[in-house]
Amino acid sequence: MTTQLTIRRPDDWHLHLRDGEMLKGILPSTSAHFGRAIIMPNLVPPVVTKADAEAYHDRIRAAIPADHTFEPLMTLYLTEDTNPDDLQAAADSGLIKAVKLYPAGATTNSQSGVRNFSKIAPVLERMAEIGLPLCVHGEVTDSDVDIFDREAVFIDRVLEPLRNHHKDLRVIMEHITTKDGVDYAKQGGENLAATITTHHLIINRNDILAGGIKPHFYCLPVAKREEHRLALRAAAVSGSDRFFLGTDSAPHNDDNKLCACGCAGIFTAINTMSCLAHVFEEEAALDKLEAFTSLNGPKFYNLPANSERMTLIKRDKPTIFPKQIITGAGNVTVFDPGFKSHWDATLTADCRNN
Ligand code: DOR
Ligand code: ZN
Repeated sequence: MTTQLTIRRPDDWHLHLRDGEMLKGILPSTSAHFGRAIIMPNLVPPVVTKADAEAYHDRIRAAIPADHTFEPLMTLYLTEDTNPDDLQAAADSGLIKAVKLYPAGATTNSQSGVRNFSKIAPVLERMAEIGLPLCVHGEVTDSDVDIFDREAVFIDRVLEPLRNHHKDLRVIMEHITTKDGVDYAKQGGENLAATITTHHLIINRNDILAGGIKPHFYCLPVAKREEHRLALRAAAVSGSDRFFLGTDSAPHNDDNKLCACGCAGIFTAINTMSCLAHVFEEEAALDKLEAFTSLNGPKFYNLPANSERMTLIKRDKPTIFPKQIITGAGNVTVFDPGFKSHWDATLTADCRNN
């Protein structure tokens, strides 16, 4: 039985770090483990221009604990008014690694997102030309489409036509939640990949709604039926380079989660690696964990894998995580996976200070 595993230091290819006191409070949970993360731009106001991304990058860097190493990989928030030249300048300078497409109204702070997809065609053309990937929140927002069908309908109505129109565009389907998403990502060729969150490998929609509503399991896209969770698990542990970790760790303070109109988002940064080791062990696929967390993402983004290492040890006693992170912007509840993971993740001693 494997009780110890050393892998390349992982990266998080989809992360919400927020700003101000929340950023300061939650960033160390990520930088303690992850070498890099793709930083989501859905602040208020959103990170739209090169100058916005530079300023946000500086604020993130200032919040990294002195004894941690961490590289924020910035993104721009795509709007119908995004300027292709500004976007290209941000990419050429190395500042941004991707652009995020939010259909307007799809999720937290997406109201500045895209309503008319034909308006972004010139920007997508430029991105295809320069090889800059598009991270897609793949849900339609039409009120006649059931919330559990929004991902599958998006693939048919928006993603397939968009990719047909921009064949060279590199696309990442963010946080897929359905078998439809898995199947589409598998057949999409080398310009298509998908991220999968930790929580969507662990919870299904019963966990949110059966036996009392659980606001801390509410996120978008919402968790689906069990058959979809199983399809996501199969994809994650398959070793296929189309699939990699994007936690979508998305902190909201408890006041904003536990109210009549609670925010979508699950905070998993601090216990993701422990949870994933548990999941991969359940699937008899610990040998595929490194591909999912540390190799497939950099490969798609044309970046080297991290040179540092992380060791995961299965201990006799369960690993204890705080129930909440106390921040200057309120308390953030940590994801409860519903099992006790005995896996404890630590970076190899000398790689936190280089
Ligand atoms: O659950 C989510 N929370 N999904 C998203 O797409 C956005 C995120 C957030 O920013 O809170
Ligand atoms: Zn997200």
